[in-house]
Amino acid sequence: MAVREILKMGDQRLLRHAQPIKDFDTDALHLLISDLIDTMRAANGAGLAAPQIGVDLQVVVFGSGTPNPRYPDRPVVPHTVLINPVIIPMETTMESDWEGCLSVPGLRGRVPRFGHIRYTGFNQYGDPIDRTVQGFHARVVQHECDHLWGTLYPMRMTDLSQLGYTDVLFPGIAAAQDD
Ligand code: NI
Repeated sequence: MAVREILKMGDQRLLRHAQPIKDFDTDALHLLISDLIDTMRAANGAGLAAPQIGVDLQVVVFGSGTPNPRYPDRPVVPHTVLINPVIIPMETTMESDWEGCLSVPGLRGRVPRFGHIRYTGFNQYGDPIDRTVQGFHARVVQHECDHLWGTLYPMRMTDLSQLGYTDVLFPGIAAAQDD
């Protein structure tokens, strides 16, 4: 168990298309997930993807089951380990809202995402996950899974005038959190 260094935008390893997990419930996989969770919690992140710590595998963790200090007004997302995910939009409607990313520290941007999705995948034991979700939960899943396809949220933005420094955009929140 360890808090790992989080790669920042500009690092080419964030732009790779990650490889699927073939073997579940292995020591190596459990260690990776333990490191992802430790690193996410140390940074108060809403989620973290393996490529963000330089591991080229389709593994993300997200949610805490409790309110997130970086997003105190957002709904609680269940703590989830998601492997080899597939996202299926349930509607074509896109919703724009603010996002931050531990690989893009100090900034927030308004990002269009599908408001209603179904996602499937597996947990670390190989048990299937199949959920249909909306709103913030759907946004977090799309953001984290994008890391597996080499996509950072600014690459999804359609209006870059809506990208800014957190401490300027949200002085109250930024006082407590660097990112
Ligand atoms: Ni991110």
